[in-house]
Amino acid sequence: MRPSSFLGTLLLLLFPATLAFKASDFKTCSESGFCRRGRALAARAQESGTSWNSPYSVEPSSLSLAPHQAAFTADVKSSIYPSVKFSLDVRIHEDGGVRVRMDEVDGLRKRYDQAAQWALLEEPSIHRDIRWTVGKANAKAVYGPKKDTEVVVNFNPLKVTLFQGGKEQIVLNGRGLLHMEHFRAKEVSQPEEHIEAEGQTVLQVNPAVWFEGDSQDAWWEETFSSWTDSKPKGPESLSLDITFPNHAHVYGIPQHATDLSLPSTSGPDARYTDPFRLYNADVFEYLADSPVSLYGSIPLMHAHSPQSTVAVFNALASETWIDIAHTEKKGVETQWISESGILDVFLLPGPTPEDVFAQYARLTGAAPLPAHWALAYHQCRWNYVSSDDIRGVQKRFDEEDFPVDVFWLDIEYAEDHKYFMWNKKTFPDPVEMTKDVEAIERKMVVIVDPHLKRANDYPVYKRASDLGILVKPKSGEGEYEGWCWPGSSSWIDFFHPGSWDFWTSLFKTKSIDEQWSWTESTDNVGIWNDMNEPSVFNGPEITMPKDNVHYDGWEHRDVHNINGMLFANHTYQASAARTDPPRRPFVLTRAFYAGSQRFGAMWTGDNLGTWEHMAVGIKMVLANGLGGMPFAGSDVGGFFGNPEPEMLVRWYVVGAFSPFFRAHAHIDTKRREPYLLDEPYKSIVRDILRLRYSMLPVWYTAFRETSATGMPILRPQYMMFPKDVAGFGIDDQYYIGSSGLLVKPVTEKGAKEISIYLAEDQVYYDYFTHHAYRGSSKGRSITVPADLHEIPLLVRGGSIVPTRERPRRSSPLMKHDPFTLRVALDTTGNARGELYLDDGETYAHARGDMVWRGLVAETQGKGKGRAVRIASVDLAAGGTGVGLYDPRNEFARSVGEVRVEKVVVVGLGTKPVSVILESGRELEWEYTPGVGSGKEGQPGMLVVKDPAVGVAEDWSIVVKL
Ligand code: GLC
Repeated sequence: MRPSSFLGTLLLLLFPATLAFKASDFKTCSESGFCRRGRALAARAQESGTSWNSPYSVEPSSLSLAPHQAAFTADVKSSIYPSVKFSLDVRIHEDGGVRVRMDEVDGLRKRYDQAAQWALLEEPSIHRDIRWTVGKANAKAVYGPKKDTEVVVNFNPLKVTLFQGGKEQIVLNGRGLLHMEHFRAKEVSQPEEHIEAEGQTVLQVNPAVWFEGDSQDAWWEETFSSWTDSKPKGPESLSLDITFPNHAHVYGIPQHATDLSLPSTSGPDARYTDPFRLYNADVFEYLADSPVSLYGSIPLMHAHSPQSTVAVFNALASETWIDIAHTEKKGVETQWISESGILDVFLLPGPTPEDVFAQYARLTGAAPLPAHWALAYHQCRWNYVSSDDIRGVQKRFDEEDFPVDVFWLDIEYAEDHKYFMWNKKTFPDPVEMTKDVEAIERKMVVIVDPHLKRANDYPVYKRASDLGILVKPKSGEGEYEGWCWPGSSSWIDFFHPGSWDFWTSLFKTKSIDEQWSWTESTDNVGIWNDMNEPSVFNGPEITMPKDNVHYDGWEHRDVHNINGMLFANHTYQASAARTDPPRRPFVLTRAFYAGSQRFGAMWTGDNLGTWEHMAVGIKMVLANGLGGMPFAGSDVGGFFGNPEPEMLVRWYVVGAFSPFFRAHAHIDTKRREPYLLDEPYKSIVRDILRLRYSMLPVWYTAFRETSATGMPILRPQYMMFPKDVAGFGIDDQYYIGSSGLLVKPVTEKGAKEISIYLAEDQVYYDYFTHHAYRGSSKGRSITVPADLHEIPLLVRGGSIVPTRERPRRSSPLMKHDPFTLRVALDTTGNARGELYLDDGETYAHARGDMVWRGLVAETQGKGKGRAVRIASVDLAAGGTGVGLYDPRNEFARSVGEVRVEKVVVVGLGTKPVSVILESGRELEWEYTPGVGSGKEGQPGMLVVKDPAVGVAEDWSIVVKL
């Protein structure tokens, strides 16, 4: 059951649709008019076979090249509607990416053209040196460092192809499924008309029928369940086929509960009957294997083969359905069917996975470095019911020695679900409570949902209403009213510029100009933005009617998938604006779009406490990483249900190896804070939490890399080994950043062991026992122990992993703790790693206040007398892009006393003769010889005890052999 209060019970009675997943709450493609039309178009094309020709063509004479830039525009027309005009705009960006835009010109109305504006960091610069060669039949451009990238725009029919090395990588409209339904007036657009011919009335079939079909299927109005969409603009959908002729795997388009390598939705091997859908939705008790749309939408798809990785970003914000067919001879064929918006497609040429991430990050931005505490453990439930409850939970964590950084408050803190307003009966002292939590350098995160209770005694609603910044109903007048947690609610229109300053003012902890602001809060509080799809309990598909009106007259249908991102965006800006200078905000969002990575973390919504949901949550977090949004996790324990202890333990491992690590539970579940577990579960979970804390340096270092490169934090097998076909479908094991850690969380009941796939001829060590396994260049699966207390976690030979091993109550308390370095030697006796540190909360790192070390182990010389030199070098000095870096910067000085207390060298086959600091000092050490076959077994291990070298300093240790 959902809500708790009397009102909640009433809501349940009124809107039972929110009670359990009902397929009937959400449209299938066949229940969505434009999706039906799009699929019917594809079916007609298929039936016609080779005689099918796209009616769209470029007018060669209209082509106009931009002076000194790799861009051109041209007129496009459709043979079925010769009087309708379209414009095409093709650009090649500085990094080789291609943007293809098409819009209707001088139409009856205007298509929504701002989706990319919200997603993009800025308008990408157009290449100034590449030249288009324009011929009779096409325009071409050849470029790239090896001059092997080529874009060809064929004129008749219109087709855009990106080639690399002479091979087609991405083809737009190769199957002739491009269709931009032009705006039309209702009266004159009959597909069939009666005409007078030789004195008789005959039925003349509109010539467009072969292409558009013979019915005006859901053009002007559409009913689903009890809702009618008035469709004031008529048909305006957009279909586009995108083919990857030389790729067999496609990934991305989060969010769906499905495999990472996306299965077919059409063709003989279709796993699902419906296309994948992107339409942000509050899907209650969603299925663990399904193409239905969930809370967020990122219209970015990667295609991968051993030869190349490419991607397309299809910047559309309206409901979009994507059919995927893996074919035997033609690669992967996709069709994207969107309800409205212009055609605005970015082709990312890769050719490596890294390149694609960099190209996408240049477009939409990389996730910024989060506050360090945000990577620690978060404890949530719906709800901690009072300030004393929070204090009590915190006390129990401390008594039981469980580390935790963040306590969360769900909607019941707010009087009548009026966010920001404390329920003073249960939370009489919110600031004192928050300060009690902050005293141990912990934080609180409080929920602020986007629906505002329509009550004149609610200052937030009142002011928004006075400012006229609420979403309007289809009439375009007044305030849209729908139902959510508080009952009758309205929604701020974050597309309205007038809402931005207002929203920022609410978060100020000191009131300005006597306007209401959240004085009963602290500057450190993080914000949880939920229900921002938006969720509307009595709306069609549990969201807003599509004919609702936003700023500038755009319909909700045009902007639906961006809506949630704007809410999180403005919360993020508002949080940053609380202090001067700003501190890194923390915002968790449920709904998201391309670009949302710039505004915080996401989670996978209301999952179920089942093994299937635990497993698919991993895939969903991986997919979000590919979608450029790496700060992701799923509710540990499962939102619904009461997980048995074994499941809860396994779920803690999934969480501890997710970028965002939060336990959460539904209001009707039993309390399940980890200290409530019986032994041995309790101690196992304590160890898992401590493991996460010990690895925070690894996570933080991985986030630094992501913030600079756009590379995901969790890296699936295909990214690490892009040529190893056997790994392309693997999505249950993954690497963490560049750390060399490979994990495979157990998501099966009763498991005692588990197999891990190793794609290379390299040694991998068990993180805990150091047991060595050997992979093979042909690919090899090994079996590792996976009993309840065991975590299948390996360190790839060649890695150096920095950790902090002292258990603490919260992560800020670790600031001055010493480091341990695990040096996992590869088969040639070398290893490398990285460690990034900064103050974890301000933006001083952008001024160079940081420590960024390269850790290197090198075997020098041969035979007797050789040595392993382990060193720490300054990476920031090599150029951080921040300009002002000084190795003696303020932050580096603040950790001047922090030392390396232990170096563990794993895989050292020979007992050392001596271990010294290069500066001369002899170090204390202990060597344990290896046992086993040489390749597998217990490897030789050296422990260097307290070398006491500074973590922010250059040093080297020489192990003479
Ligand atoms: C939604 C959220 C869930 C939250 C609940 C109450 O169902 O997804 O996490 O606890 O609302 O706010």
